[in-house]
Amino acid sequence: MGAGNSDFLVIGHRGARGHAPENTLLALDTGILLGAHWVEFDVQLHPEGALLVFHDLTLDRTTNGKGPLQQCDFATLRGLDAGQGQQIPTLEEALDLIEQRVGVNIELKTAEGTGEAVAGVLRQYLDAGWPAERFLVSSFHLPELWEFHQAAPEIPIGVLLGGVPLDWAGCATELQAAAVNLSSEFVDPRLVADAKAHDCKVYVYTVNDPAEMRALRALGVDGVFTDYPDRALKFSRT
Ligand code: G3P
Ligand code: MG
Repeated sequence: MGAGNSDFLVIGHRGARGHAPENTLLALDTGILLGAHWVEFDVQLHPEGALLVFHDLTLDRTTNGKGPLQQCDFATLRGLDAGQGQQIPTLEEALDLIEQRVGVNIELKTAEGTGEAVAGVLRQYLDAGWPAERFLVSSFHLPELWEFHQAAPEIPIGVLLGGVPLDWAGCATELQAAAVNLSSEFVDPRLVADAKAHDCKVYVYTVNDPAEMRALRALGVDGVFTDYPDRALKFSRT
């Protein structure tokens, strides 16, 4: 993964959700302008075929809509307010806004074809000149992540972990992953060491407390997902 010369990657979580409505173009732009090296956002495959940048299964928390996203038609979704007048973006709109200014971590939230659909879109951006290592595709859904990897083997993938597996970072090596993206609640030094022994980067989510950032850096963690990229930059030498 290319991060310039930074030794501690600052990844804007859902863009920069501490500063702007999460997973909107405004949040992505804000994360970039604050100096994040990478931005992370969530993607769901909608039944009408669009790849939407959205975290929850339901619309209620972050928009003026109600109910499950998957049961709402695309035209209605696009008319919703995702905060400060922002629209729910598509994957293509997010990438066009980012324009290679930073690395892009796309988290697959849905399964059943999401990996293949994302691979199809990213192939167009690779063909247009985006370097594969400026992408990191991740998921908690490891079979879907494997589907993605088979469809686009040149794009690095990251295994999302919300716990400590019995075989430590074994699933990451099995999937040929470039990174383990680990919950801050489960940062076990043995897991970090095992990932690094297998040449996997370790990024921890979601870290907003500077003291925790400092401790993670001391442990050898390679970067953090944060709602406040501005808080993390001082821990990074560029
Ligand atoms: O990808 C890191 C982090 O975003 C995973 O959790 O729930 O914020 O998508 P969540
Ligand atoms: Mg996410």
